[in-house]
Amino acid sequence: MTTLLSHLAYLEIGSPVPADSVAFYTEKFGMRVADREGDTYYLRSWGDYYRYSLVVGPAPEAVLKTMAWRTSSAEALHDAVRRIETVGGVSGSWSESGPGHGRSYRFEGPLGHPMTLLWEIDEYDADPGHRSVFPDRPEKRSLHAAAPRFLDHVTVAASDVRRFAEWYCEVLGFRIMAYTDLEEAPVTVFSVLTTNEKSHDLGIVLDTSAAPGRVHHIAFWVDHPEDLTRTADLMIENGVRIEYGPAIHGIGEQHYLYFREPSTLRVEVNSGGYRNYVPDWRPRTWKPSAGSNNFFRNWDMPDSMMEAFPAAEGRTATEQGAPPQLEQELLNVAI
Ligand SMILES: [Fe+2]
Repeated sequence: MTTLLSHLAYLEIGSPVPADSVAFYTEKFGMRVADREGDTYYLRSWGDYYRYSLVVGPAPEAVLKTMAWRTSSAEALHDAVRRIETVGGVSGSWSESGPGHGRSYRFEGPLGHPMTLLWEIDEYDADPGHRSVFPDRPEKRSLHAAAPRFLDHVTVAASDVRRFAEWYCEVLGFRIMAYTDLEEAPVTVFSVLTTNEKSHDLGIVLDTSAAPGRVHHIAFWVDHPEDLTRTADLMIENGVRIEYGPAIHGIGEQHYLYFREPSTLRVEVNSGGYRNYVPDWRPRTWKPSAGSNNFFRNWDMPDSMMEAFPAAEGRTATEQGAPPQLEQELLNVAI
């Protein structure tokens, strides 16, 4: 199969308090509003190559409205859609254009996750006031101390992690990089997929709720691991509780920091990690005790990290595995 997808282009989220969410992203996180249409805001980080990477609009609860991937060519867009429509059970629809991009295909994956595929997209052209002195940069580095460079990845919650990973691998060509299985039984609680050399641009945690298509977190990149420490400092100083981190994941070996924005959605800042270019990579299977979530194996994540969005009865597992009660419930199902 030729490479179908190139990278994650933008995420669209819903917030019950979109103006508050946007105030968070701009004032505390250092993104900028590129465009606005009523209650819908198009936000960008200073290093995003396209006009925006995060769309924030109104919704009753925090929700992922779509995750938009750019294909590797116009032909790849048609190939990807043909594969989706051939495999069965999933259908979507075309839009002739959207803000800052051309034709796009939107569908709901087999476990209810909305996804958009597109090829034509406007490259960002900074106005003179934001133009960088460096030719490669879309605009000059933000003066905001916590500002992320660009969108990095999204992690969703799904009721069957392996089924999700295998569908996106077989139909759209994502490479499956790793799984995390429970210690006691072959219950897969986490997986990471990628469209490129990064360790992942799509994560999946096990969702024990009956709600389809939930999201666990959205993530932005910073250049240096020490930027996470500075961001954590700035968040605490400005009334934002740190949910988890800064520390390092075993899977991907990325530095991470998690906090929440006003919609309740979890936001991650990450940095570091390895690159993997192996085209026939064989996914590795971790156990939580190997440090899949916590490289140093010396602390547990808080229970709040089991929450996904929109809120629903039932929790998610994580890279760490599942807390004892949830693990027992999963084992009872598996055995
Ligand atoms: Fe993440």
